[in-house]
Amino acid sequence: MSNLLTLEGVHTNIGRYHILQGVDFAVPQAQTTMLLGRNGAGKTTTLRTIMGLWSASQGTITLAGQRIDALATPDIARLGIGYVPESMAVFSDLTVKENLVLAARDGEIDTARLDWIFGFFPALRKFWLSRAGSLSGGQKQMLSIARAIIEQRKLLLIDEPTKGLAPAIIGALIECFAELKRGGATILLVEQNFHVAQQIGDSVVVMDNGTIVHAGSMAALAADVPLQERLLGLSLESHQ
Ligand SMILES: Nc1ncnc2c1ncn2[C@@H]1O[C@H](COP(=O)(O)OP(=O)(O)O)[C@@H](O)[C@H]1O
Ligand SMILES: [Mg+2]
Repeated sequence: MSNLLTLEGVHTNIGRYHILQGVDFAVPQAQTTMLLGRNGAGKTTTLRTIMGLWSASQGTITLAGQRIDALATPDIARLGIGYVPESMAVFSDLTVKENLVLAARDGEIDTARLDWIFGFFPALRKFWLSRAGSLSGGQKQMLSIARAIIEQRKLLLIDEPTKGLAPAIIGALIECFAELKRGGATILLVEQNFHVAQQIGDSVVVMDNGTIVHAGSMAALAADVPLQERLLGLSLESHQ
């Protein structure tokens, strides 16, 4: 099993705060890795550091054998990383179609790929010419994910996609991630709801206070409730 993305000893400072304090983990090729941890653990900062939106003050980040930690964000994205940030990244004043055209390479949408996306997000077909700002929260999240996957990417970074969404929409997102995985995608996904996380993940890394405190298979963590409680706390969401 080869690793597509590797972080070694990564530190990130935001202003005078030392947020990531030596982050080490790897994302295996063609697998879904869940990044879990309490609020404020450093999950979003980790994804932003991978994308070059914060620069690592120490350590190395390697994508498919290439160091990316000194590159600028557009160059990192061009290497084939799709990023779905915590707050959905859609242009409210543009239509669904325009949002996707802007996300596609050279503004050319591959129609077969679009049909594949419509297959699990039919609302995007229905609202194709509607303003993105008029969509529901769940539909905006679908559009944000669709923007990240409108091109084949080497790696997808997805930050808390189900936050605040209704169960039916969460089900559609889980189905989307399963379909991406069947297509061989490599995904690093932050998810607060453990019940959802265990349906999606192959492997799991858990953060606390800016470092990795656990790494292993999702099956092993799902079977070990005391370990979940120790690592993730007794959140109401963990045993739904
Ligand atoms: N722009 C920022 N300025 C100062 N502190 C920040 C900033 N962004 C995040 N932090 C701090 O970094 C820590 C980790 O935040 P974050 O990565 O967003 O955690 P998570 O995504 O795991 O909830 C928190 O203590 C948070 O307050
Ligand atoms: Mg976060």
